[in-house]
Amino acid sequence: MSVTPPGTATPWIRIVEAPKHVGEIVELRGWVTHRRSSGKVQFLVLRDGSGTLQAVAGVKDISPEQWEASAAITQESAVILRGMIKADTRQAGGVELGMQSLEVVSAAPDYPITPKEHGVDYLMDHRHLWLRASRQQSILRIRAEIISAFRDFMNQEGFLLVDAPIFTPSACEGTSNLFETQYFDDKAYLSQSGQLYMEAAAMALGRVYCLGPAFRAEKSKTRRHLIEFWMMEPEWAFATLQDVIALEEKLLIYTVGRVLEQRAEDLKIIERDTSKLQKVLGPFPRIHYDDAVKMLHEAGIAFEHGNDFGSPDETELSNRYDTPIFITNYPAAVKAFYMEPDPNDPKLCLSCDCLAPEGYGEIIGGGQRMSSLEMLTSRIDAHGLPQSAFEWYKDLRRYGSVPHSGFGIGVERTLAWIAGLDHVRESIAFPRMLYRLTP
Ligand code: 4AD
Ligand code: MG
Repeated sequence: MSVTPPGTATPWIRIVEAPKHVGEIVELRGWVTHRRSSGKVQFLVLRDGSGTLQAVAGVKDISPEQWEASAAITQESAVILRGMIKADTRQAGGVELGMQSLEVVSAAPDYPITPKEHGVDYLMDHRHLWLRASRQQSILRIRAEIISAFRDFMNQEGFLLVDAPIFTPSACEGTSNLFETQYFDDKAYLSQSGQLYMEAAAMALGRVYCLGPAFRAEKSKTRRHLIEFWMMEPEWAFATLQDVIALEEKLLIYTVGRVLEQRAEDLKIIERDTSKLQKVLGPFPRIHYDDAVKMLHEAGIAFEHGNDFGSPDETELSNRYDTPIFITNYPAAVKAFYMEPDPNDPKLCLSCDCLAPEGYGEIIGGGQRMSSLEMLTSRIDAHGLPQSAFEWYKDLRRYGSVPHSGFGIGVERTLAWIAGLDHVRESIAFPRMLYRLTP
């Protein structure tokens, strides 16, 4: 579909649509990424966010003033080009533009990011410009596809989107990494998770999910940690731990399939080895915590039963498989206050973490929620949380309480795995990290 603003005779199209307009005179609006010339012919490579395309002008095709302007054009100058779309099998998209006019909207002298190598810190300082690089654009397209896939999948499964608040009166995932903020005369915290609100919504609507930002004041400087990240959190009334594990498996297979199908071009641009993603078909192994510890011991790792897995432990476990794996029944002591105890071993709980393959670590955390009001009250005390802030949450156990389960899947970690990124900093447009709040 092309857009023709009032007063413009030539239809403005996006580069992605160009193959459908061969033989037509069109207008393209975008930014110049490269320019080269062979005396009597000039070549401009244009990008417009939908793709890139080569525009060609012979000395007689455009006016002498435009020829001069084109010869002087710099990287990232904004232009409007008009001309004919021509088939050219040598070009990536199979087409090029035969330029008939060039209008410089705005020149960009000394663009700070050049085709030469730049260090990561420099690129992060220029993140607002770095986003224009084709690799970064592709990553953002894959991110958008993952988020669409998450929503489409949940909607298909009959879950209703319910938005959770960002300002919260209490901790969901422990008090050690809360961002505190002033809320008029009170204190508030930026949400660590929408889960507790989704539990309330599930008792109203049965199957719900939220998708939004979460905040953790974690002093961790790792390849997997962001201070602000995005998470989808489904919550399912009457569901058990096994039910949500099956749902997670289906969600991941669907999401990887969607990205392989819809974003093949972007996966190619970022040089992702897709043969690894093709193997992400069910069923994924379900491994009991006790068995995972045995596997670590057999591998000669000195791991103490009862501890949480560190990232080398997770890598050791996940490297044995081509698919994501589920680790279930963690010790209650290393998990949040709301986990249902394991009826077979009260030291363990009905939790499940999903570890991605290729060493990407935990991408999903979830489980069955505690049903007993009495035990919930004592867990809130044991975790040093104020009862008063949780009275509303305890009402969910007082009035029509049912077994229920849910999980949280991190967008950035899922994207880092699917796109094969070295670090989560590239998985969000403007990452918030331990030492980075700008741009
Ligand atoms: O395991 P977490 O902390 O679980 C919860 O927040 C639960 N309340 C979710 C639920 O049951 N509704 O976080 C869930 C996921 C992790 O597996 C990870 O993918 C992501 O959120 N995550 C982070 N991603 C980037 N940076 C961080 N600092 C993250 N912390 C968690
Ligand atoms: Mg977790």
